[in-house]
This record gives sequence, structure tokens and C-alpha cells, in this order.
Amino acid sequence: MIHSDTELQAIHRHFSRTFGDSASKELAFHAPGRVNLIGDHTDYTGGLVFPAGIDRGTYLIIRRNNTNRFRFASLNFDSTADLGIHDISHKQGDNWVNYPLGVIDQFRQRGIDVDGLDCLYSGNIPNGAGLSSSASIEVVTALALDTLFGAGLARTELAQLAQAAEKDFVGMQCGIMDQFAVAMAQADHAMLLDCHTLAYRQVPIDLTRHSLVVINTNQRRELSGSAYNDRVAECYRALKALGRTLGITRLGELSPEALDAHADLLGDDPVALSRARHIATENERVRRAVPALEAGDLECFGQLMNASHDSLATHYDVSSEPLDALVSIARDSGHVLGARLTGAGFGGCTVNVVATESLDDFESTVKKRYTHTTGLVADFYRVRPGAGAGAVTLPHT
Ligand code: GLA
Repeated sequence: MIHSDTELQAIHRHFSRTFGDSASKELAFHAPGRVNLIGDHTDYTGGLVFPAGIDRGTYLIIRRNNTNRFRFASLNFDSTADLGIHDISHKQGDNWVNYPLGVIDQFRQRGIDVDGLDCLYSGNIPNGAGLSSSASIEVVTALALDTLFGAGLARTELAQLAQAAEKDFVGMQCGIMDQFAVAMAQADHAMLLDCHTLAYRQVPIDLTRHSLVVINTNQRRELSGSAYNDRVAECYRALKALGRTLGITRLGELSPEALDAHADLLGDDPVALSRARHIATENERVRRAVPALEAGDLECFGQLMNASHDSLATHYDVSSEPLDALVSIARDSGHVLGARLTGAGFGGCTVNVVATESLDDFESTVKKRYTHTTGLVADFYRVRPGAGAGAVTLPHT
């Protein structure tokens, strides 16, 4: 759901009320969220992922204010900020302002003299749900700064800069998937991305007979919490134990066969062994899933999605009771080809490939049974693969 002209005008009016008039003109940008179809927790091991942009995202209205103040407001969060150049440092707690601040910090580290800004954000990606609302804010900010300060960075560089902001400033040791997908997505496509080389291929997604339904467990999760960074560290441990013997420098290079043959090297670290098993098999699943989809074999694609969830739950330990309940209820409904958690896990959303003719049935059955089982209320989003970040023309107010 990209905003209509009327909604954009309302955001623009809010900008004027919040920041007042200025000689400089404001510009507008949009970046989507993303849903990952298969290949989770592989990106930071230099493996394969298959995400798509979604038709929900973040708008940014922005202008240079020539005052050396950095002013931030959002229609989604109550907190605002008005900071001087020397206050560009990490803000305590779960403060959304850290995302744009991290991006400004990255531009300044690259010698680009970003000075005062007025920024208003407005988005419709549910926060903390695994649909990359944070990468959306980072990338939309990076694109805007690139334009305002004439930095001339390529799209892939903007994605890398936004990832660096998340790692260095926010403190989450994430991979490149989210920022890359948000920056490079193409409508009606998902992208097969090699997270080591950044080579990618856009793959058309045909949603005539089957639809993508994202379901929010509404179990809130905190991504920068230590569990995600723990997984990154566990993968590193596995690589350290296996690397020399197997001649690999990234866990993403590990094949399931090589792991079977050398599992003894991780004999005293069953946790790292288990994490390595997920990484090796997940890359293999992505490798098989994409050609299956291209050949129209959605049954096979769905089975690989299911296997991906099961591996994330058992070997990688990033699922949760609500996620497992949602996945098993969806599978039992008889209307899905595949159901799995998407993104980091620890709560958040599942992604489901559902027969289009059964969508209403599917949603009402799953909603009822999920609440019955968990006491939580799920939200359903029928998503279409949306376009990547771009400039937006502001309608006249
Ligand atoms: C989060 C991270 C990504 C990726 C996913 C799991 O979304 O930001 O880099 O690791 O989790 O696939």
C-alpha cells in the first residue's frame, strides 16, 4: 500500500506544521520493507538469500535547513529530536532516531559534510515484525542524503552504507540482505542475492493462482537484543573449527556433505554444529528453491520453505511458540504450499504461499485457531513484491 496523493499531501502539511517555512525546498523519498521468501540467517555467513520488496514502506520528507540543527519527527513514533552536530551519537534505548543518525554518521565518516536537516518520516511497515522497517528508514535516509549532498554513491554502496549504520551505530551485527533488498527491489520480483559477491538476479513472481500472505504473530521482538548477535558469534565459532580443514573462509561455503564428513571437528560444541547444519542446508535449499519457482514448481518451492522453517526452529533456535503455532496452523489449513518464519525470527512474521481462491477462508481459519492456541491476535498482510527505494514527486498542497 503505497500512499495516495491525498495521504502524501497530509504528510507534507504535517512537515510544514512541524518545521515551519524555509528558503530551501523539501524533497520526498520512499523505501519499501522486505519479506524474505527463503534463506534466513545465511547473509552474514556470505550465503544466499531470496528476498522481495513489499508494497509497504517509509516516506521521508526532508530539506536542508542551513542551521546546523538536525531535526527529526515521525508520524509513527512520539519521540522527536532536535540535535546539534556534536550530538550525533547513539541514543539510549530503542530509539528510532538512531537509524537516521547512524546514516548521517556514515556519510560524515566518508567525508561528506552533511549539515542541518529537517526530516519527517511516515511509514506503514509494522515495527519490530521482521519486515525491515529499520532498513527502510536507513535506506530512505541514505538515498535522500545522497541526493541532497550530491554524493553520487551507487545503489549498492547506499545499501552497504545503511548496513554499516546498523552495525556500527545501532549495534546489530546484521548481514546485507535487508538494506540490499530495500535499495534494489523490483516490483513483482524477488531477488536471488549472493551475500558474499553481491551478485544478484531478479526473478519474476507470478501471483495469479497463489498469493503471498505475511502474518504477524504480534509477539514483539527486539532485534538488537543479544540473541541475534549470539547467532553471528556461534557461526564464527563453527567457521573457526571447520575452516582450516575444509579450506573455507566463510560458513556460507560449507556444504551439507562436507559438514557430515567433518562433524567431529565440532564434537565439543554441539551448539555451533547445529548452527552450521542450518547454514549449510539453508543455502542448499535456496539453491534448489529458485529454479523450482522459475520452473513453476510451487509445490517444491513450498516444501523447501517448510524445511527452512523447521531448520530455523530446530537447528538455529530462532523460532518461538507463537511462530511455530502460526506455521503449523497455516500448514494444517490445507490452503498453503509453504509457511515459514521470515527474517530474524524471535517473534515477528511468517510468510505463506496461499492458493489465491482460498485466501478468505485461509485467513479466517488461521486467525481463529491462532488466537485459540496462543491468546494473541494475528494481523494479515496480502503483500505484492514492491519496488525499491526511489524519489517521490510531492503533489501540490
Ligand atoms: C535480520 C538481519 C538480516 C538477516 C535476517 C535473517 O533481518 O537484519 O541481515 O540476517 O535477520 O535472515
